[in-house]
Amino acid sequence: MDATDMGSDLQQVLITEEQIGQRLDGMAAQFDADYAGRDPLLVGVLKGAVFVMADLSRRLHMSVPMDWMAVSSYGNGAKSSGVVRILKDLSTDIRGRHVVIAEDIIDSGLTLKYLLKNLQSREPASLTVAALMRKDTPAQADIPCRYIGFECPDDFIVGYGLDFAERYRNLPYIGILKPEIYQ
Ligand code: IMP
Ligand code: MG
Repeated sequence: MDATDMGSDLQQVLITEEQIGQRLDGMAAQFDADYAGRDPLLVGVLKGAVFVMADLSRRLHMSVPMDWMAVSSYGNGAKSSGVVRILKDLSTDIRGRHVVIAEDIIDSGLTLKYLLKNLQSREPASLTVAALMRKDTPAQADIPCRYIGFECPDDFIVGYGLDFAERYRNLPYIGILKPEIYQ
């Protein structure tokens, strides 16, 4: 570690690179079994899901098409309000397709709730979610998640796609930021 190492901004490492890889191995094996013969479409939510999309999809044995959406959620500060705007829509017609949304983390679940409703109206054959992490909050009980990597505490975490003010996304593992960084 040198003086520029972003790891030194962390209070604690929550999930190591090795743990992420092992969990993605399991999720990919389950995905391959579940979607055999069904030609699923993976939809990544920019920007946070870039890493889970890349690392999950490369563990699949099937060849899977990928598309992307970008959304912004209005809100004050770190919590999302549930009012979501689509910044970039899919370039794929998903009617009749088996769609799996790849996400970094489910916090309040409001972003996904909006996305699921929006995509469901396009009449896919099926629609579910693969999220690397789910925060331990009661709010997202009704989000249909087929794949969850890790349950995590309700702390503000960074790394592996998760940012604080657009930084730390490229940290290869997940950790809790030191409070003095964001205060
Ligand atoms: P939700 O609508 O509250 O579920 O928020 C979902 C989005 O908020 C995620 O896709 C992340 O981009 C972001 N987010 C939620 N919790 C965290 C966190 O602890 N660190 C960084 N980003 C987060
Ligand atoms: Mg996100």
